[in-house]
Amino acid sequence: MKKKMINRRAFLQFMGRTAVVTAGARPALSLATTPPPFLPIAPATDDEVILAEGLGYDLLVSWGDLLNSKGERFGFNNDYTAFFPLDGNPGDGLLWVNHEEVLSGYFASPRAPAQKTRADIDREVLEVGGSIVRINNADGRWRLVQDDRYNRRLDATTNIPFISAEPVAGADAAIGTLGNCAGGVTPWQTLLTCEENFHLFYGDVSFASGQRVHEQDSIIGWERYLERPPEHYGWVVEVDPFTGAAHKLTALGRFAHEGATVTRARDGRAVVYMGDDKTDEHIYKFIAAEPDSLHNGVLYVADTHGGRWLPLAMDQDKRLQAAFKTQTELLIRAREAAKLVGATPQDRPEDIETDPLTGAVLIALTKHPQRPYGSILKLEEQDNDPGATTFRAGTFLAGGPHNGFACPDNLVFDPRGNLWFCTDVSSHELYKPPYEPFKNNGLFYVPMSGTGTGFPWQVASAPPGAELTGPTFSADGRTLFLSVQHPGEDSPSADKLSSHWPDGGTALPKPSVIGIAGPLLDELTAV
Ligand code: FEO
Ligand code: CA
Ligand code: CA
Repeated sequence: MKKKMINRRAFLQFMGRTAVVTAGARPALSLATTPPPFLPIAPATDDEVILAEGLGYDLLVSWGDLLNSKGERFGFNNDYTAFFPLDGNPGDGLLWVNHEEVLSGYFASPRAPAQKTRADIDREVLEVGGSIVRINNADGRWRLVQDDRYNRRLDATTNIPFISAEPVAGADAAIGTLGNCAGGVTPWQTLLTCEENFHLFYGDVSFASGQRVHEQDSIIGWERYLERPPEHYGWVVEVDPFTGAAHKLTALGRFAHEGATVTRARDGRAVVYMGDDKTDEHIYKFIAAEPDSLHNGVLYVADTHGGRWLPLAMDQDKRLQAAFKTQTELLIRAREAAKLVGATPQDRPEDIETDPLTGAVLIALTKHPQRPYGSILKLEEQDNDPGATTFRAGTFLAGGPHNGFACPDNLVFDPRGNLWFCTDVSSHELYKPPYEPFKNNGLFYVPMSGTGTGFPWQVASAPPGAELTGPTFSADGRTLFLSVQHPGEDSPSADKLSSHWPDGGTALPKPSVIGIAGPLLDELTAV
């Protein structure tokens, strides 16, 4: 598909768009016995972002929007968002947005891998990575500042050095970042963007019997024209949002990184919680050697049955010394190391957040073939210290028809300490058993204190085929930034699109970032 040029007039018309406010006064699916904190919405199939009464949204930026005079454009399938105020002004700052993949077939990546041309791939490599955009809120509405000096892209062509004790597959830098799913913000105001399903782009290698073999072709097919070692992807990438400078942090291990949630140990060292979003893969924790750097430290993996963090450090474990030649090799093959030390297989760990009031660590386990509704796991560190190596773990909230949701994915705490989470029933499974009751994916609110603690209420419903991702609250709690990712992904064919959101009519659906605000948000979250 050819990209549309957006001229200044069209851009101003776009910016003048009226916020859509939809009433949600319908019976909810939830079977809670406690009164809801607001009128929740029912599961919906509408081709719109349906919001509970008292909320509306502004469209901030959409796939293909021109960001600057260099011609850089907003990428495809926006996911994680992070907001960085400028000069301490909560209404003016930089929004980082991840761009995950180009899988939604009829739009960004229309041809099957074997039919792709070099031109297709040259276009696709610009669609992933991340965008940095200046946004401000001068009159109660957030707007993107077009051609701001901060607006820039990182994509699958950006040169990104490794922070590593040794070269990675013979190189000191990777070409590009891709599969950018969720992430985190460090206390020193950089952001972490996580390379999740890296194998989709250039395939993967295996090291069985000590040999490196190309074991898996990709689904997207970039290796047909571009020679890139798969070991260069599957890392956490640290980015300075003010300069765009980036590096890949090998100390945090290589796997399908969903997100990276940063906190501090009681002694001040930085700690990062991370999930590997693949069936029966693991939950990890990195304890940095220093307070304000993630370059060095110890990577641990969770034994949630025994309540222990198991170090993946060759100098501490003879089994690891026997399996790997160097610590860098171990980090490249972190999944194998995790299994060698006895890590607990998990139900696809997605996002992780720490409860600001209690210190508990909440982990979305999105689903498993035997547990299709998923759950949220609660992990309590020994003495409530993120630097601890022992913990207790148990289910915090189980998905299923009785609780009105399935397949939890992104989590966020609001400024008052209540939990919000998004669901991600895969687009090919939406509306099918056992997911029919949930209809389109949604956004849920969970009070974490007082009446109804721990019960989920649906706040928003996504357009068909989409998931809502990357929730981020503004510092004052009056805006919730949210990505609407892959609308229409479940379309049966290019001429039978399930969604035309956000433009409506016969338009192609466009992944976009919205800002949700309104009296209900003020009531629930404003500080
Ligand atoms: Fe990209 Fe695990 O969601
Ligand atoms: Ca996710
Ligand atoms: Ca997901």
